[in-house]
Amino acid sequence: MIDSAPFDFRAFHASHKIAMIVACSENGVIGVDGDLPWRLPTDLRHFMRSTKGSCVIMGRKTFESLDQPLPNRLNIVLSRSMSDDRGDGVRIAPSIEEGIAIAEASDMAMPIWIAGGGHIYSQAMEQGDLVDLIVRTRVHALIKGDVVFPEIDPKRWKLARSEEFAADDRHMFGMTMEWWVRNCE
Ligand SMILES: NC(=O)c1ccc[n+]([C@@H]2O[C@H](COP(=O)([O-])OP(=O)(O)OC[C@H]3O[C@@H](n4cnc5c(N)ncnc54)[C@H](OP(=O)(O)O)[C@@H]3O)[C@@H](O)[C@H]2O)c1
Repeated sequence: MIDSAPFDFRAFHASHKIAMIVACSENGVIGVDGDLPWRLPTDLRHFMRSTKGSCVIMGRKTFESLDQPLPNRLNIVLSRSMSDDRGDGVRIAPSIEEGIAIAEASDMAMPIWIAGGGHIYSQAMEQGDLVDLIVRTRVHALIKGDVVFPEIDPKRWKLARSEEFAADDRHMFGMTMEWWVRNCE
């Protein structure tokens, strides 16, 4: 499905409570050697615009892959080995539920974003009705990696929108941004 109509992505995102945002290859790969397998500036901008002003929940390894905490967002890091006394605004939570409770108690914009990595995506996906929106960038490549995103079950999720981007001199691969909503039928 390709839809080129203007899309108020902020309003659409804000109508959901807990969203996952991810970029994965055609074979599901999201990471290699603790980092992203690609540099795709349009997808990075999409991530930054989508999550700005909201809470971003991520696993400890994903947090450690960043140069610094994501600015203009409440960074909530899931870890059982770190303690919640950093003093730099980054919050540490020992479970997804406690991470969500921190986000709900904050005054940040909706939705609460779950931003990986593989361990966190798979646990969130397994919890049936926890997440109500998946924003997935499908990178048109087959990649060798060591971390994957789980399959989206089309019986449980409905593709609400998609946008195509061709490869160019700044993007080694083309990609499709997809918005999947939980199927409530
Ligand atoms: N392409 C994308 O969109 C995307 C997005 C994000 C990340 N990534 C990539 O994914 C890779 C990292 O993913 P990963 O699966 O290796 O690690 P991860 O999910 O980022 O972090 C795993 C760590 O999170 C903590 N954790 C996991 N489940 C928890 C729970 N239920 N409660 C509390 N803490 C929990 C543990 O930390 P402790 O050991 O401290 O307890 C665990 O070691 C990197 O390559 C990164 O670049 C890709």
